[in-house]
Formats: sequence, structure tokens, C-alpha cells
Amino acid sequence: MPKEIIRELALEFVRVTEAGALSCARLMGTGNKEACDQAAVKAMRLALDTVDIDGTVVIGEGEMDHAPMLYIGEKVGTGQGPRVDVAVDPLEGTTVLSKGLPRSMTVIAVAEEGCLFHAPDMYMDKLAVGPKARGAIDIDLPIEANLNKIAHCLDKNVSDLVVVILDRPRNQDLIDSVRRAGARIQLIPDGDLSPAIAVAFEDSEVDVLAGIGGAPEGVLAAAALRCVDGEMQARLWPSRPGEVERAQAMGISDVNKKLTMDDLVKGDDVIFSATGVTSGELLDGVRYMGTIARTHSIVMRGTTGTIRIVRASHRLDKKPFYVNKR
Ligand code: FBP
Repeated sequence: MPKEIIRELALEFVRVTEAGALSCARLMGTGNKEACDQAAVKAMRLALDTVDIDGTVVIGEGEMDHAPMLYIGEKVGTGQGPRVDVAVDPLEGTTVLSKGLPRSMTVIAVAEEGCLFHAPDMYMDKLAVGPKARGAIDIDLPIEANLNKIAHCLDKNVSDLVVVILDRPRNQDLIDSVRRAGARIQLIPDGDLSPAIAVAFEDSEVDVLAGIGGAPEGVLAAAALRCVDGEMQARLWPSRPGEVERAQAMGISDVNKKLTMDDLVKGDDVIFSATGVTSGELLDGVRYMGTIARTHSIVMRGTTGTIRIVRASHRLDKKPFYVNKR
């Protein structure tokens, strides 16, 4: 029987996402998305190396020959501790941060080895809801049918629901169908991970995340939803030449398979942590006040379902490596 991921590690993962956020947040609005991403990657990689896990990156910055750090297959952690899969999105919303728009955050999910879906860097069709609508969705049904069921579970009218969809031509048919169904829509320019998690929180303004976005973000959303009893169903959406073959090389024999929660994140032994870089529906962004920086993070454990909101104050004069020059 594999050992449960040690609960004290939850705070360690907050340190990792905080490090990423503190390192890239100063670059807000610089227009340089590569620099934003690199700052987060470097800081999270360094912070991860101090955590007592024997981790393997299963979702990261891409394949080894394309990414110098946090590439798929890279070993992370001290090597002492549980053997775990690590899914990391050092900066969810690189363009977003480079333009200073809402919804960028640093993210990590860690689960028992072999429990996270090894999603290739391609698109994925997603449908995500919170705990009240868990068990009611089916991505194979038309969106109208799903919205009727979700509205029933939430004790709302379909016209009360807020559906978040990435504003992309590939989602136009979905947008038209949701409009016909009469639900309210939030079209977002980027960053579908934050709303995919926010649907699980009753005080958020969003009820459903639907449509085609990044597959890695899909797995991270599923890891978060696993911790809060939400649900996501998904299907890979290859769109570029060679993607089907790449998925197959990564062990996915049926690229068209409907992916359920158990396919995306097996079991409850998962820890999810995210820190806001710019504010979104889930988290506030980093705020600077002279030598102090304030961060806002969420850390959740699937085993116990505990959700912790961590507001931290960091003394930058004592952490000079986080003072990223513009
Ligand atoms: P980046 O962090 O790589 O900029 O991705 C942000 C994001 O908007 C995700 O939230 C979303 O899932 C994906 O990109 C959508 O991809 P695309 O911009 O190619 O439509």
C-alpha cells in the first residue's frame, strides 16, 4: 500500500507557488511573456528542490528538448520522501501577466505516482462544475441538456447560470448553443484554469466552465476539483499535425476517449496549491508595498478535503532573490 502524501507538505507547496508568484509579478505589463514565464519557472524549480519528495514532472513546461527546467520527466525534490507525480504550471496566463490583465497564477498539483493523467501539450474540451452538480454532467450530451441538469442541481434557472468560455473561434458553436439555451456567458480572453476551479465555490460568480482550452490546465483543474468534490469531464482535442501520434507516444491509446475524473486524477491523495499573480475570480494578485509583498494562495488536500486560504506577507529585504528587476 503506497504511503499517503505527507500532510505537512501542503505548506511546502504553498512556498513553491508563492516563490513563483513573487518572482514574476513585478514583470506585470512588460509585454515580455517569455520573461514572465521564465521568472516563475526558475523560482518554482529552485523552491521545489528543497521539498522532501521524490517527484517526477508529468505536466510541465514541455518536452526535455524544448524546456530547460520543469520539463516532462524531470526529477524534482530532494529525492527523500514519497514518490509523486508533479503537475506544474509555473505561470498560468503568460500573456495575461505580460499585459497586466486578470487571472494569472502560479500552480502545482502533486499526487501519488501514476495518478495524474499525462496530458500532452494540446487542446482539451472541458466541462467543469462544483460539488452540487457532481454526477449530473455528461460531456457527450449537448450543452443545453447539461445546462438544464446543472441548473436543476443548483436550484437555479438556466437563465441564472454563468458559463465561462474562452473567447476563441474554436468555441463559437458552443457559445451559440449556450446563448440559445439562455444562460449568461463570460467570454474570457485567456486563463481558463481559475474559473474552472471557481465553479466549485458558492460565493464565486461562475457556475460552469465549458469549451476547448489547454489540456495541461485541464488536468490541474481536475486535481483542484478532486479536492473540493467538484467534477470535470474532458476530451483531448488534437488540432495540429503530429498531436495524435504524440499523445499515443505518451501512452494514450484512444485520443478520443471521454476523460472522467478517475482518468484525470486517480484517487484522493492529491495536494493542489496556487498563488495569485494578477487578481482573478479565485485569488488576489501580488501587492507590493515598499519592502513588503503580499500574496494570496489556496492550498487543498483531496484526502481530507481541507481548503486553506493563505495570505502571506513577505519581507523582500530579507528575500533579495525575489526582487526581480524589470
Ligand atoms: P499560457 O499560460 O500558456 O499563456 O496559457 C493561458 C491559456 O489561456 C490557458 O488558460 C488556456 O487553457 C490556454 O491558454 C488556451 O490556449 P490558446 O491561447 O492557444 O487558445
